[in-house]
Amino acid sequence: MLYPLSILSLLLLALIHLTHGHNQRHSHGLQPSQQILSPDSIPYQTRVFWMRKANAALAELASPCPFGAFGSVVVNHTDTSSDPKGRLVCMSVNQNMQKGNPTLHGEISEINNCSEILTAPDGDYRLSTSEALKAFSKLSLYTNAEPCPMCASAIRWSGFAECIYGTSIETLVDKGWGQISIYSYEVFEESTNLPGRTKLVPDVLANETDPFFSWQFDPQYSCPKGCVRTGEDKSCQEIERRFDRELRR
Ligand SMILES: *[C@@H]1O[C@H](CO)[C@@H](O)[C@H](O)[C@H]1NC(C)=O
Ligand SMILES: *[C@@H]1O[C@H](CO)[C@@H](O)[C@H](O)[C@H]1NC(C)=O
Ligand SMILES: *[C@@H]1O[C@H](CO)[C@@H](O)[C@H](O)[C@H]1NC(C)=O
Ligand SMILES: [Zn+2]
Repeated sequence: MLYPLSILSLLLLALIHLTHGHNQRHSHGLQPSQQILSPDSIPYQTRVFWMRKANAALAELASPCPFGAFGSVVVNHTDTSSDPKGRLVCMSVNQNMQKGNPTLHGEISEINNCSEILTAPDGDYRLSTSEALKAFSKLSLYTNAEPCPMCASAIRWSGFAECIYGTSIETLVDKGWGQISIYSYEVFEESTNLPGRTKLVPDVLANETDPFFSWQFDPQYSCPKGCVRTGEDKSCQEIERRFDRELRR
């Protein structure tokens, strides 16, 4: 009986650790419920694979080191027809600067892109608008940073099956980012009135997502791969773009 007992004590320890950690870090007295943080049935290596894609979306759609380095991918984990890790549906990055639209955080931009892709008349899915609205409940959103309350709310209104994040809001604040201090699990807890549930999987591969958010307010922090500090403000810039500029001079 040693084996099941030790599993039980491990679980208890994990639970104590979780509740303790969350007690310290937030203000409103809410605890993440087990419904929201239920055990993860997807292998951790699969989570890692898609979180790396969320980071890689930056280089693919913007630059390896955009200032607002928020990237995300949406995955259909029930479609394992071509890959056991699931199928990529759409990806996006923060587009505040490109569009001059302050609401286009990575996740909002991502939801817009998914709707376009799911309903495109010549696309892979060709869903009606009502089918597209329903489709979100089968999809998982991976974002390299914890959704702010605006995005967490949009994720709940979308009805995603899961939301998986890397860097926490707490870390963003530590690194100097302005944030609204409502954690995503609090928004999720307060949205149980909405249909469906969104499972929250926190702190996935934060060791690889944190560096994208660590250089902006710390001049000593090294740039993400592919970038160097340059210009008057010594911000991180993509190496190729810098060389392009120098060539043009
Ligand atoms: C996700 O995959 C399942 C199983 O293949 C499929 O029934 C469903 O339509 C897919 N949804 C989207 C949005 O691709
Ligand atoms: C939307 O997602 C697709 C597929 O992942 C990607 O090729 C495209 O660049 C994305 N568009 C935007 C605006 O993010
Ligand atoms: C980050 O941590 C994961 C284990 O969670 C490990 O597999 C990965 O190699 C680490 N990444 C780096 C860059 O050290
Ligand atoms: Zn946001």
